[in-house]
Amino acid sequence: MAESMQGLKRSHRCAEVSNALEGQKVTVMGWVQKSRNKGGIIFVDLRDRSGILQIIFEESKCGSECFEKATKLKSEFVAAIEGIVCKRAGAVNENLTTGDIEVVATSLRILSEAETPPFPIEENSKTKEELRLKYRYLDLRRPDLQRNLVMKSKVMTIARQFMANEGFLEIETPMLCKSTPEGARDYLVPSRIHPGTFYALPQSPQIYKQLLMCSGYDRYFQIARCFRDEDLRADRQPEFTQMDMELSFVDVDDVIDVNERLLAKLFKEILDVDVKLPIRRMTWIEAMNRFGSDKPDLRFGMELKDISEVVKDCGFGVFTGALENGGSVRGINAKGQGAMPRKKIDALVEFAKTYGAKGLAYIAINEDGTYKSSFAKFMTEDEMNNIVAALSGEPGDLLLFAADKNKVVWDTLGALRCHLADQMGLLDKNVFEFVWITEFPLLEWSDEQNRFTAMHHPFTMPMEEDLAIIDTDPGKVRAKAYDIVLNGNEIGGGSVRIHQDDIQEKMFECLGFTREQAYERFGFLLDAFKYGVPPHAGLAYGLDRLVMLMAKQDSIRDVIAFPKVKDASCLMTNAPDYVDEAQLKELGIDITVLDEQKTEE
Ligand code: AMO
Ligand code: AMP
Repeated sequence: MAESMQGLKRSHRCAEVSNALEGQKVTVMGWVQKSRNKGGIIFVDLRDRSGILQIIFEESKCGSECFEKATKLKSEFVAAIEGIVCKRAGAVNENLTTGDIEVVATSLRILSEAETPPFPIEENSKTKEELRLKYRYLDLRRPDLQRNLVMKSKVMTIARQFMANEGFLEIETPMLCKSTPEGARDYLVPSRIHPGTFYALPQSPQIYKQLLMCSGYDRYFQIARCFRDEDLRADRQPEFTQMDMELSFVDVDDVIDVNERLLAKLFKEILDVDVKLPIRRMTWIEAMNRFGSDKPDLRFGMELKDISEVVKDCGFGVFTGALENGGSVRGINAKGQGAMPRKKIDALVEFAKTYGAKGLAYIAINEDGTYKSSFAKFMTEDEMNNIVAALSGEPGDLLLFAADKNKVVWDTLGALRCHLADQMGLLDKNVFEFVWITEFPLLEWSDEQNRFTAMHHPFTMPMEEDLAIIDTDPGKVRAKAYDIVLNGNEIGGGSVRIHQDDIQEKMFECLGFTREQAYERFGFLLDAFKYGVPPHAGLAYGLDRLVMLMAKQDSIRDVIAFPKVKDASCLMTNAPDYVDEAQLKELGIDITVLDEQKTEE
């Protein structure tokens, strides 16, 4: 029978009980990690979110009734125990902060019994993630997940304090919004009162924060939930949290300055890591050319080298063909990987193909300086030597090349570089390499839509020095946009916004919107700008991604209490789920997909 609190008060969390309390009475409450009955003495490891404490029950100390009750304790029972803090009689447990003490119980209340859990509650669980997510409330009892969520809470607390000190106001913005596509697909919410119409859940508070600038709040901050219906990966969830901000009367450097100090504070206070300020900056084009990525991992080198010049007259059609099509030939040097077996190289070729490459050419440099290569037969000796020299190849190295349109070459080698670094053990989670990526292209050509789309969003300011070419060569215009990148992850991004009518109109023109179409989507923002708008800029962090890296985890699921899986469902609640006919009727919704499925069946 479960007992209740009846005025009993917890005096300490488990790990707060220390040898400083020796001889004192304490009352602790938590879950039984394990219980061992050694005849006349029962050892219980009691766990709460602070850690584990050893309790011992001896009949002579706690009485026979209490001892009898203690024999019933099993894993995950919830118990309240009063007792006296003593030095450990047995061996000290170096693995516990409370390893040199124990509590000799004087009384016990069993607050709740527990069935045997479907998997053991322990650190570094080997249990499959699917099972753990189905029983997430049990998974969340594990110390590693608890540490992650505690860290996330600290990050939010410190960020809030910092932002308040810097004069930012925390202002909430709506969850039920108008659909204004910003990149990903919207999650829609049907309106009951206006049948046939929908709210959209926010992809970010972007438009609202810009309106707040129009309203004079000049420094806004919010820890905001965002929703994006996109394909999920380890670093993407359908709902995630942004640490979002917007500032008035500023330019790029002002936003970067406040954020560098915020990052330095977070890393110092939480990890005792010194972030070297100022954080280095790299233009987008430099990042692409050197690392094949706009989120370069700078924990290791293996930079891309353009060998287009070296091979432009060679006899290898794959290379010259790519150059004739306006592309490039580039390579990377995987140091010391020259002895990689053919099978593993073939696997790299397959990996490259998933990034759109048609193949991957290689030169392995043998220890005696001779080459093993997939394309040597098309090359002169001089050409081979020049290629090797361009990549600073030395005996024992493996050189890998892609030839295609720039985008394919960058994507392929950028991904390959990280893939190899992972295989070569170059990715140290204790090293934090930050970089700002700046001067992004304003526009990105979409083959699918046969028009330019905004690389960041339609309100991003072009660089003043590029305005002159916006009509003649829009693809070359750079934006006042910046991303903050950590160890190859985009942890945040933002931009200076357009606040001038004529530039905004030009931007819509580039995006292929008529004035009417632009008004239909963003009319309220464009109207707001007519009544006095300050120059403004902002940035948003993916808070989950930031904490994932701080907590040295591989997936943002490990820093989100109740995450969704790859197909955007929740294994614990079974969301999304069907709803009652009556609910649908009220909303005026008829589900045709279901009808089709029914007829198929
Ligand atoms: P952006 O779209 O770059 O910018 O988003 C900001 C940051 O949010 C994180 N992020 C995600 N995290 C988890 N799951 C996702 N599906 C996901 N999508 C994005 C990334 C990203 O850097 N309104 C602008 C910001 C601004 O201009 O001020 C915006 O939303 O870490
Ligand atoms: P092939 O002549 O098609 O047998 O290709 C010879 C070598 O070039 C093989 O190692 C291919 O993987 C490689 N290769 C093919 N296409 C490309 C490409 N676009 N870029 C780099 N290497 C390629």
